[in-house]
Amino acid sequence: LQRKRVFKIPVLDLLRLAILEVILASKDDCLVAGDLCSSDESCSPRLRTLRQCVAGNGSMKLGPGARSQCANAMSALLSSPLHDCQCKRGMKKEKNCLSIYWSLHQSIIHGLKLVESYPYETVQRTPSELTAQIPFCHSDIGMATVNRCLAAAKACNVDDLCQKLRTEYVSACIKPTPKSGLCNQGKCNKALRRFFDRVPADYTHELLFCPCTDTACAERRRQTIVPSCSYETAEKPSCFTQMRICNADLVCRSRLAQFQHACEPSESSSHGCKQGTHRDCLLAYTGLIGSTVTPNYVDNSTSSVAPWCSCSASGSHKEECDHFLGYFTNNSCLQNALNAFGSESQQPGTPSPPSFLTPTLDSTENR
Ligand SMILES: *[C@@H]1O[C@H](CO)[C@@H](O)[C@H](O)[C@H]1NC(C)=O
Ligand SMILES: *[C@@H]1O[C@H](CO)[C@@H](O)[C@H](O)[C@H]1NC(C)=O
Ligand SMILES: *[C@@H]1O[C@H](CO)[C@@H](O)[C@H](O)[C@H]1NC(C)=O
Repeated sequence: LQRKRVFKIPVLDLLRLAILEVILASKDDCLVAGDLCSSDESCSPRLRTLRQCVAGNGSMKLGPGARSQCANAMSALLSSPLHDCQCKRGMKKEKNCLSIYWSLHQSIIHGLKLVESYPYETVQRTPSELTAQIPFCHSDIGMATVNRCLAAAKACNVDDLCQKLRTEYVSACIKPTPKSGLCNQGKCNKALRRFFDRVPADYTHELLFCPCTDTACAERRRQTIVPSCSYETAEKPSCFTQMRICNADLVCRSRLAQFQHACEPSESSSHGCKQGTHRDCLLAYTGLIGSTVTPNYVDNSTSSVAPWCSCSASGSHKEECDHFLGYFTNNSCLQNALNAFGSESQQPGTPSPPSFLTPTLDSTENR
C-alpha cells in the first residue's frame, strides 16, 4: 500500500505539471485555468472564497477578518494558472471567462495590488500567411489608383468568413422591423460584434481604417458600421451615463478596460502609446464596436473618432466625463494609430481616385 502511494503521487504531479505547462505555453485562457483550479483541492476553495469577496461590491464591506481571508486567497491564487489568464474576444462562454478574470483583477480595485494586466489576448488566431493573400499591396498593378477602402471591401468579399459576417451585419442593420419600421438595434450591434470579433483584423482594419483623402471616401468609411442603426439617436446621451451602463456589463466593461489599457497615451513615447503597438490599440478599439460606447468617425472631413455621446450636461461628473471622452477625442496613441494605418502601407502622394459613394451592401460594390 505504502509503495503504491509513493508511486502514485509523482505521476499525478507530473501530469499536473504537464497540464500546467500546456496551459502556460498557450497563454492561459481563464476558462481552462478556472477548470484546472476547480479540480485542484487547494485551489478550488480559494477561488470560491475570492469570488465571494468580489461579489457585489466586494471586500470593502467585509470586516477585517474576512478581508484578510480575501487577501490570503488572492495571494495564494497568484501562483496558480489563474494569475495571468486572459480571454479571447467573441469566444464561447466569454462572460464566464471574464467573470473568472475579474474575480482576481477586481481585487485591485479593493486595494490589493496585482500585476498590470488586461482581459483580452491581443494575439489573434490568424494564420500568418493570410496577410500575403490580401491584395492591398500598392505594388499590384492598378492598385495604386484604386480606392483602398473599396479594395478592402472587395478583399472581404472573396474571404468566406469576412463576406458571410459582413453580409450578416449589413442585413441586420438595414432591415426594418415589421412593427416599427425601424431597424433592430440590438440585432445590428450583435452582428457587428460578431464581425469584429471573428473576422481577422487584416480584413476588418482595412475596412474601417483605410485612408481617405476626400469626403466621399470618408463618408463611406463612416458608414461602414451603419451609424443610423447601430448608435445614432436624435439626441446625444450623456457620456457619463453611457460609461456607467457599459461598466455594469461584464463584456462591455472588459472591452473598455482593454481599450483604455492598449490605447493609453504617452508623451514620452515616439509612437504616442504607453503600452503596446498601434495595432493593439486599433484591435482594442474595434472591440468596442457594437457596445454601448461604440466609437466611430465623427464626420466626413477628418479622421476624428468618438462615441455617440456628449459631456455638455454631465453636471458634477463633468471631469470624469471629459476624461472618458478625451480617451477618444484627445488621445495621441489612438490618433497616431489611426493616421499611421493609412500611411504605413501606402506610398504617399498617390492621386485620389474617382469618388465612389456606394452603400455598404455587397451587391453594389463590384459594379
Ligand atoms: C456598489 O456601490 C455603489 C457606490 O459605490 C452603489 O451605487 C451600488 O448600488 C453598490 N452595488 C451593490 C450591489 O451593492
Ligand atoms: C459629408 O457630411 C455632410 C454633413 O453631414 C453632408 O452634408 C455631406 O453630404 C457629406 N458628404 C458626402 C460626400 O457624403
Ligand atoms: C488633451 O490632452 C492633453 C494631454 O493629455 C491635455 O494637456 C489637454 O488639456 C487635453 N485637451 C483637451 C481639450 O482636453
